[in-house]
Amino acid sequence: ESSETTKLKKMYGDAAQLFNHILVNTAMGEKALTYLHERGLNDAMIKEFNLGYAPTEELLAAFFKEKGLEQQLLRKSGLFVELQDGSLKERFYNRVLFPIRDPQGKTIAFSGRLLVKDNKQPKYLNSPETKIFNKRKVLFNFDKAKSEIRHQKSALLFEGFMDVLAAYRAGVKNGLASMGTSLTNEQIYLLERVTDHLDICYDGDDPGQHATARALTLLEPLTKMQLGVLPIPERMDPDEYVKKYGEEKFAELAQNAPETVTAFYMRYYEQDRNLANEADQLAYLADVLQQLAKVKAPVERDIYLNQLAKRFGIEKTNLEAQLQTYLRKYT
Ligand code: CTP
Ligand code: MN
Ligand code: MN
Ligand code: MN
Ligand code: MN
Repeated sequence: ESSETTKLKKMYGDAAQLFNHILVNTAMGEKALTYLHERGLNDAMIKEFNLGYAPTEELLAAFFKEKGLEQQLLRKSGLFVELQDGSLKERFYNRVLFPIRDPQGKTIAFSGRLLVKDNKQPKYLNSPETKIFNKRKVLFNFDKAKSEIRHQKSALLFEGFMDVLAAYRAGVKNGLASMGTSLTNEQIYLLERVTDHLDICYDGDDPGQHATARALTLLEPLTKMQLGVLPIPERMDPDEYVKKYGEEKFAELAQNAPETVTAFYMRYYEQDRNLANEADQLAYLADVLQQLAKVKAPVERDIYLNQLAKRFGIEKTNLEAQLQTYLRKYT
C-alpha cells in the first residue's frame, strides 16, 4: 500500500470520526440525529455504522490543515470541491453521511443524504472516484456482511443504504447494496468469493421491479450463483416495509418469501397486461415460456408448466410444444 493510499484512508477515517462526533455529541448535529431517529435508526445502529453529519461548508479543510496535511492531498481526497480561486469547499454539507467501507472495514468514501428534499440537489451525493475509491469495486456493507453471508450461505442485494440498515436492524445481516448503479463484474466477483446464492431485494415500486429484471438479465450469463428474488409487497422498499410492519415481519419475509427467478418473471410479465384478454394472454405466455426455456432443471420447468396449464386452461402438451420451439433457440 502506497503512502498516499495510507494517508487518504487515514483522512477518511478521521473525517468519519469527526462527522460522527458532530452528529452524536453536538448541537449542530441535533437536527440530523432527530432525522435518523425518526427513520428508525437508534444510537446503537448509528454507532455500528459510524453514521455522521456534515453541517457546514467549512469544517474539514481547517481540521486537516491543523493536522498539517498539504493542500495537494486535500485536493486528491475527493472530500472537497475546488472553487475558481483555488480554494477548497466542502463537498458534503447539510447531509447525513454514510461511510462506505472497503472489505477490510476502512472508510474509503461517503454517501451523503439530504435531510429535506430539495429539487436543486440530488438526494444522495457520493464521493468521486479517488485513488482509494472505485465505485465499481465496492459493495456497501460487504465488510460486515461477508461472514454472515458465508454463514447463511446467501447474500441479499438491496437498492439503497437505508434498506441495508433497515434489514440489519431486523437481524438480517447479509445485506449489501451497490453504489446506486447496476452490478459490475467486479462486484459479482467479490460476491462469488463468499457465496453461491444471491437474492435480489430491490424496491417494490416499478423502477425497482424493472431494475430487478435488468439485474437478472445481466447476472444470468455472468455467474454460476443461484439467483432468487425477495419481493417487497405494496410497492414499498425494504426500509418502508420495516417502518410499516416492524423488524420481525421483515425478518420473516426474508426467511420465507424469496422466490425463484421464474416466479419473479411470472409476476413481472403480468404487469400492464390484462390477462382476461387473449392477445395479452398469448403475449404473456410467450414471455413466460421463453423464460422457462432458460431453466435447466426439468422438474422446475414442470412445476411452472403445471401452474400455467391449470391457470389458463391449456393442455400441458401444447405448452410443452411451444416451450420446445424456444428451447431450440437456446441450445
Ligand atoms: N441514489 C443516488 N442518487 C439519487 C437517488 C438515489 O445515488 N439522487 C442511489 C442511492 O444509493 C439510493 C439508491 O439509489 O440508496 C436507491 O434510490 P431510492 O430508492 O430513490 O432511495 P432510497 O434508498 O429509498 O433512499 P431514502 O429511503 O433515503 O429516500
Ligand atoms: Mn428506488
Ligand atoms: Mn433463494
Ligand atoms: Mn428506495
Ligand atoms: Mn427508501
